[in-house]
Amino acid sequence: MIETSERTVARPAQLAFPAAHSLLGLGVALPDLAEAQGFYTAFGLDVEGQGSRLALRGTRAARAAPPAAVMTEGAKRLTHLTFGAYEEDIPRFKAHLDALGLKRMDAPKGIDPLAGSIWVADPDGTAVQIAPSEKTTPEARRESVPAAPDGWRYCPTRAVTRPDPFRLGHTFLFTSDLERSTRFYREVLGLGQSDGNEYVSFLHGRHGSDHHILGFGQSHAPGFHHFSFEVENVDQIGVGGQAMKERGHDGWGFGRHVAGSNYFWYVRDPFGGWIEYFCDIDYIPAGTEVPLRDLAPEDSVYLWGPPMPDDFIVNPAP
Ligand SMILES: [Fe+2]
Repeated sequence: MIETSERTVARPAQLAFPAAHSLLGLGVALPDLAEAQGFYTAFGLDVEGQGSRLALRGTRAARAAPPAAVMTEGAKRLTHLTFGAYEEDIPRFKAHLDALGLKRMDAPKGIDPLAGSIWVADPDGTAVQIAPSEKTTPEARRESVPAAPDGWRYCPTRAVTRPDPFRLGHTFLFTSDLERSTRFYREVLGLGQSDGNEYVSFLHGRHGSDHHILGFGQSHAPGFHHFSFEVENVDQIGVGGQAMKERGHDGWGFGRHVAGSNYFWYVRDPFGGWIEYFCDIDYIPAGTEVPLRDLAPEDSVYLWGPPMPDDFIVNPAP
């Protein structure tokens, strides 16, 4: 079982600037929604068909909660990102955008905006929605030690071990300008930088969050790399990745990241992208000023694991 200790959550008033607290979701256009429905259901997500689109949720999200991913039909591309903020921060965000001279935009065509949300384009042109919401990022580190139901046997059996991707953790995108994107999400969305070098950048919510709710890799163009769901422990990562492999979906794992410390297994989706199981990611408490270390290039992606597939970090964008 997951144990979380309650922490005092910093309220917006304690920060001098408006700051998103969570990555609520994202939108992706994909060329074949029927295939997507089968793939993401097999991965373990709650997939709801809604007319000509899919709504994906982690297994513990209420059906009324904003989807972790909205998938529409079309050539593959990221349609938008959705960040959650405290209700009190929405008017502060409006004033903040005005002060920065950033124009608000309408939701992209075909995307239903969340109630009370505001939209702005990031420097790569990605539509960013900021919506009033409950905080979905955790309040403490979730350790990944499997439970021992009878007290001392720690390895569960196959019969009871299923991947349970219960919560969207983060997404990782390619950007045409790493420094510019990092600056935008720090200055406009109020995120904090957790790690980085000239190749990658990781950002967290400053009301207390996972080590990263958003990551970027420097590339020649913007692009969508992966989104990632938390599971309870390493057994669920291993069993989940293995089951997807047996269904014909190869991947990359089991391994451990340096930036964020999380364990991972990436599964290749049918559309030339990736989705990740993770657990045991570093937690950055509210109010923490993270001293940026000089992340060595060889630590940008992982500490250990099988050799990284040659096409893992390939941005298909022209
Ligand atoms: Fe990831």
